[in-house]
Amino acid sequence: MKVLVIGSGGREHAIVWKLKQSPRFPKIYCAPGNGGIARDAQIVNLEADDIKGLLAFALQEKIDLTIVGPEAPLAGGIVDKFMRKGMDIFGPVKELANLEASKAHSKEVMRRLNIPSAAFEIFDSPDKAIDFTNRSRLFAAHYPVVVKADGLAAGKGVVICKNRNEAQLAIEDMMVRKVFGRAGEKIVIEEHLEGEEASILAVSDGINVIALASSQDHKRAFDGDKGPNTGGMGAYSPAPVVTEVMHTRIMDEVIRPLINGLAKENKFYKGILYAGIMLTKEGPKVLEFNVRFGDPETQAILPLLKTDLIDLCFASIEDRIDEIKLEWKDKASVCVVLASGGYPGEYKMGFEISGLEDALWEAGSDTHIFHAGTKLQEAGGGCVTDGGRVLNVVSLGDDIRQARDKVYKAINKIKFEGMQYRKDIGHRALKHH
Ligand SMILES: Nc1ncnc2c1ncn2[C@@H]1O[C@H](COP(=O)(O)OP(=O)(O)O)[C@@H](O)[C@H]1O
Ligand SMILES: [Mg+2]
Repeated sequence: MKVLVIGSGGREHAIVWKLKQSPRFPKIYCAPGNGGIARDAQIVNLEADDIKGLLAFALQEKIDLTIVGPEAPLAGGIVDKFMRKGMDIFGPVKELANLEASKAHSKEVMRRLNIPSAAFEIFDSPDKAIDFTNRSRLFAAHYPVVVKADGLAAGKGVVICKNRNEAQLAIEDMMVRKVFGRAGEKIVIEEHLEGEEASILAVSDGINVIALASSQDHKRAFDGDKGPNTGGMGAYSPAPVVTEVMHTRIMDEVIRPLINGLAKENKFYKGILYAGIMLTKEGPKVLEFNVRFGDPETQAILPLLKTDLIDLCFASIEDRIDEIKLEWKDKASVCVVLASGGYPGEYKMGFEISGLEDALWEAGSDTHIFHAGTKLQEAGGGCVTDGGRVLNVVSLGDDIRQARDKVYKAINKIKFEGMQYRKDIGHRALKHH
């Protein structure tokens, strides 16, 4: 069996690592991969958004299964194109990938299917949006409101605005100065929700749907959830805030209504469905849907999963999710991202990374290092930094506290110039113990 993984981050390294555990002993390819993935899979020199090139490669190599990491190729219709050639690929078709690629579309779907989420208005002209911010009362309260660019903006298109001034600035940035390009042609203005956030990843075949372990990520750059938003500085799983009762509510009020509602419209959502949820006093409300594995949530979740990932992907592709019974390790996991100094702003790359083996030795069993922005050095084996988020260190423990102690012990051994990371990953989970 040959499996192709598309992408180059920590998420993809975790997927490759999980595939390596498969009893089917697949030959694993990854396009374009990174320094760590290069040791675990055969690197394919094609970018993740080169759909034509990837399809040609998959056909030529007779790839049996393709797993897509990032959203861009899904939004670009990679699943439709592979399917048309009879190739098995895990993920939603282009029309359904729009749930992530267009926030306005996603909100309209939620409204149509009665899925709880923040009150909102959609605007395609800056004048009307500015007019709206001048109203005396916007939603349930006056301010804050949330201004969101409609399209994909690499996690930077959402601004929480404390007052009218900030809202108007955000609108002008997106719609007049076009700082996110075409992604800001349309915007959504939303009611601001209060509560704790959690992520639920589920796998669907279009009819049936099964949830993976809950998780929580840490978007802000610095300790105490301060500083600018990033791609994610760490995650843990499961999230204690998602109690069994809450989990049932999320499945009954969000996940199944979406999958079933779409199916009634003859739209069969396949692949990973990621729901970003705000747990408000009134219950769970959707912040957004993503149509692929989360990064870094996946790095925390997959080491806990005992079930074969290949089985799970084929169950989705072949409409057999109802036959799957997921098995989990009775453990908790914490994932910490080691980033380049300056990230998410400007940073330098090309620094040598040391201590990776010592780190694994120090932490003992159940610790994993998933590479993100790294590159194998030409000459001799070692890796250098090659991006903003460089490494993900993940440890399992009997509970979050133990996992967290272990992961930071491992990190103490790892060094590269300018290395920066959060020392408080999991702090909200510890509060629940
Ligand atoms: N309506 C809202 N109320 C409160 N916070 C929000 C709201 N919408 C988004 N956020 C915050 O902004 C973050 C990013 O928003 P999200 O919709 O997930 O977009 P993206 O992940 O594409 O940047 C969320 O994780 C959440 O912290
Ligand atoms: Mg999000």
